[in-house]
Amino acid sequence: MNKILATWKSQSLGTRILRFWLGATWLYGGWQKATDPTFLDKASANYIGQQLSGYAKSSPVGFVLKHFVEHATQIGVLTMLIEFAIGIAVLTGAFLDLAILGGAAVSFGLWLSVSWHAYPYFYGSDSAYFAMWVGLYFLVRKERTRKVSFIPNLTDRREFVKILGVGATAVIAAIAGSGLQKKLPKAAVGKEIVKLADFPVGSVKQFTAPDGNPAFLFRTTVGVFAYSAVCTHQGCVLFYSPQDHSLNCPCHGGKFDPANGGKVVAGPPQTPVGSYKVAIQGASIVTA
Ligand code: FES
Repeated sequence: MNKILATWKSQSLGTRILRFWLGATWLYGGWQKATDPTFLDKASANYIGQQLSGYAKSSPVGFVLKHFVEHATQIGVLTMLIEFAIGIAVLTGAFLDLAILGGAAVSFGLWLSVSWHAYPYFYGSDSAYFAMWVGLYFLVRKERTRKVSFIPNLTDRREFVKILGVGATAVIAAIAGSGLQKKLPKAAVGKEIVKLADFPVGSVKQFTAPDGNPAFLFRTTVGVFAYSAVCTHQGCVLFYSPQDHSLNCPCHGGKFDPANGGKVVAGPPQTPVGSYKVAIQGASIVTA
């Protein structure tokens, strides 16, 4: 513990603020994935594989990402563990330089794959995180009084144990997070969403989809249909705009057309918003 505190005490306030923010955010990123029951659920619109195939279509490194899609679950688990390991290493100071470079590499990868199309660019956070990691790297190296190699020496017993410690803590955190996942409600087919009489043609209503995510129900002269309210860009919750009849994202200006298969009509999202099956059954509109 004294050694951990010493790494903090030797740094300037600016470095400590950056280090704390980045370390805590990466730790939270891993925790958020571990506790999200939809992240590794192949049936969910939020499944990592769905996200990867969307990014593969639009990213400048899509030719690489498309090879990841078939291993999406493993990539998801690995991403979670890497985020935990980087967060732990940055906060404890174990292999600080290496962890910072790892954070910069992950942010750069996310910038190319997830937020490349964010416009203006500052709507996407990954480029800002990449700049913060690079800045922290130079600050840490400048403020250090002794020379440190950023490649761990695996023949040194203490360094080896430290690596094991960071790895084991990341695995334990991932297991703990998945143990605390909220149970997804069972896909209830035939569950009433609204009475037909209360939902005339032209109505729109928000409801909770069978997978627990927010969704929108529409009734037109053609019939009833439903879309997920989760933005396919970075997961913000969409709202319905009656003025332009679209599902809009408050985060980066994404817009989807519910009258046209949930197609993207504006903003950085590259994949249409997910849909849910609904049907008219007797006097009700139900999940199908
Ligand atoms: S989360 Fe970025 S546009 Fe929706």
